[in-house]
Amino acid sequence: MRNYLIEDLPHYFEEYKKSIKNPKKFWDKIADQNFVWYQRWSKVVKYDMNEAKITWFKNAKLNITKNCIDRHLAVRGEKTAIIWEPNDPKEQAQHISYNELYTRVNKTANVLREMGIEKGDRVCIYLPMIPELAITMLACAKLGAVHSVIFAGFSASAVASRVNDCNAKMIITSDGSYRGNKVLDLKSIVDEASEKTPSVESILVVKRTHNEIKMKEGRDHWMADLYEKASADFVTVIMDAEDPLFILYTSGSTGKPKGMLHTSAGYMVYTAYTFKNVFNYKENDIYWCTADIGWITGHSYILYGPLLNGATTVIFEGVPTYPEPDRFWEVIEKHKITQFYTAPTAIRSLAKESSEWVDKHDLSTLKVIGSVGEPINEEAWHWFNDHVGKKKCPVVDTWWQTETGGIMISPLPFVTPTKPTYATLPLPGIQPVLMDDKRNEITGNQVTGNLCIRFPWPGIARTIWGDHQRYKETYFSAFPGKYFTGDGALRDEVGYYRITGRVDDVIIVSGHNLGTAPIEDSINEHPAVAESAIVGYPHDIKGNALYGFVILKETGEGRDKENLKKEINQLISDQIGPIAKLDKIQFVSGLPKTRSGKIMRRILRKIAEGDFSNFGDISTLLNPEIVEEIKNERI
Ligand code: PRX
Repeated sequence: MRNYLIEDLPHYFEEYKKSIKNPKKFWDKIADQNFVWYQRWSKVVKYDMNEAKITWFKNAKLNITKNCIDRHLAVRGEKTAIIWEPNDPKEQAQHISYNELYTRVNKTANVLREMGIEKGDRVCIYLPMIPELAITMLACAKLGAVHSVIFAGFSASAVASRVNDCNAKMIITSDGSYRGNKVLDLKSIVDEASEKTPSVESILVVKRTHNEIKMKEGRDHWMADLYEKASADFVTVIMDAEDPLFILYTSGSTGKPKGMLHTSAGYMVYTAYTFKNVFNYKENDIYWCTADIGWITGHSYILYGPLLNGATTVIFEGVPTYPEPDRFWEVIEKHKITQFYTAPTAIRSLAKESSEWVDKHDLSTLKVIGSVGEPINEEAWHWFNDHVGKKKCPVVDTWWQTETGGIMISPLPFVTPTKPTYATLPLPGIQPVLMDDKRNEITGNQVTGNLCIRFPWPGIARTIWGDHQRYKETYFSAFPGKYFTGDGALRDEVGYYRITGRVDDVIIVSGHNLGTAPIEDSINEHPAVAESAIVGYPHDIKGNALYGFVILKETGEGRDKENLKKEINQLISDQIGPIAKLDKIQFVSGLPKTRSGKIMRRILRKIAEGDFSNFGDISTLLNPEIVEEIKNERI
C-alpha cells in the first residue's frame, strides 16, 4: 500500500487543487496504488447529475473483503483487527487477529451459502455490537450478498418495513442484547416483525444473552450449530465495481425510510482514503469509534475504513455511563486508544458529569479526537478539547451523511488548523457550494446558504433501493446539476465551513435523523388524534428534542391527558423506536396553516423554542388567532 497520507497544509492545498482540476487522474492514482483488483477499470468516472446516474471505476472487478482482510494476512496476519469490548467490564475483551477474522468470515460465508444465500440476495442484520455483527457483514460482502444492517434499537414494525422494502431472504439476529443494565430481547422483536415479512426464508440466531427465546422449526437456526460444521475455505465472489455492497436506511423528511445503496469499488476507495487522512492513521494505532454499526458511521469508520487500512478497530457493546460515567475513559486507558471518534450528544452528556471521571484516567495515548452526527456546540467542543484531548489532540469535526458514504468536510489532524464548531475544509475531491433559495450560487466568503456538492465523489450513494426517481428528486432536483445535502452552512472569511443544521423537516435527536412525517403518521393513528405537527427544540444533551402539537378529535377531548400522552409515545415507540418519543406534547385546538393548507412549522418551532419575538407576518395565515392560543399554552 502506498502512503496517501496528507502531511501538512501546503500538501493539502496541492492535493486539493489536483483533485479538482483533474478528479479522474486523482482518484485513478489512489485506486491504482492502494488496493487489490481482479481487473482494472475502463473508465474512472461517468456521471449525469441531472439523471443522478453515477458510476466509478467502470468494469473493475474486486471484492472489498480481499482488501479488508486477505491482503493483510502476509504482512499482519497476527495483528489484532478487532478488539471487542463487552458491555460488562468484568467480561473479558476479545482480540481478533486478521488471521482469525479471515477464518471466521469464511466459515460464516459458507453458513450463509448453505442457507441458500447467493450473490445479489439481501440479508438483514439485526444484531447488537458483538463481533458477529462485523463478521456477518463481511461474510455477506465476501459472498456478494447485500447487507442491510438494521439498528438494534428499532421496533418490530420498523424492522418489518426495512426487510420488506428490500425483500430480504434472511434475517440474522441474536437471542438478546446487553445495553448497560438492561437486557433487550431482540429475537422476539424479529419474531413479531417476521409475521409480516413474506420474503424471509430463514432466521439465524447468534447466542449472546442466553435468555429463553422461541425458535420456529424449519425457519430459525442457531448460528453456532451451522458455524461448527462449516468449512473454513471459501472462494471469494468476484464483484463488479458497481455491484451493490449494502443498503442502509435513513429517514427522509417525508414518507418511508430511504434505502441508500452503496456499491463496491467507489465506497471502498473513498472510505479507505478518508479514514487514513481524517484520523492520521499510522500502523500501530488503536482506533475507536463509539458509534453503532447500525449507522453509516459504524459501517465506514468502525468496519470498512479501518480494516481497509489494516488497522486495529474497537467494537464496544455498551453505553457511555455503564457501570459508571467513566466507561469511555476507562476503555481508552485499557486499550491505549490513539484515535477516539464520538458524537456531540455523548460529549454533552459526559461533560455534565464531574470532570474527575475523566481526570482519573490516563488518556495520554490519544492523538486525535473526533466528532460526528450533528453540529457540535462551542461549549461541548471546548470540553472535549480541554478534558479529553488535553489541548494536544486535534478535534476533527467531521461533516458527512449516510448518502455521502464517507467524510466530506473535516479538518485533517496536524494539517488543518481547527476552529471550534467548524468542520473547516473539504477533503480532496469534494467541491462544496452554497446556493441561495433562488438557485443562485453564492460566491465569496462570509456567506450562508444551502450546502450542495458540485461534482461526484467515489463514496456517493448510487440510488435509493427500488426508487431511483425519489433519489433524483430528493438530492438532484432542488439545485439542478448539483447534489443537495439538506443542510445549511456558513463559509467564514477564510473559507472554513460551519454546518448550521438541517434546512428540511429532518430533526437530529442525539445524532439520529428523524423525519417529521413518519412520526406524525404514527401519532395520527391514535384513535383520539385528529392531526399533529412535530418540531425540534434545543436540548442540552440531545441537541434537539421533539415537541408535538396535537389536535384531538371530539372523542378524545374528555380523556385523561397524561394517559393520552403516554399512549401517543407508546405508539411512536412501537412503530419507529424509543428514539423518536416526544419530550413535550401540547394539545391544541388548531395548527397555524397557510391558505394552501401547509402547516407553518417555522412558527411552531419558534413557540417550542420559547422565542416569541418575531413570528413574521402571520396575517396571511388561514387562522392567525391560533398562534396566540398555542403560545399562551406552551409547555
Ligand atoms: O445534518 C447533518 C448532520 O447529520 C446529517 C447526516 O445524518 P446521517 O445520514 O445519519 O449521518 C450521520 C453520520 C455521518 C447531516 O446532513 N451532521 C453530520 N455530521 C455533522 C452534522 N452536522 C454538523 N456537523 C457535523 N460534523
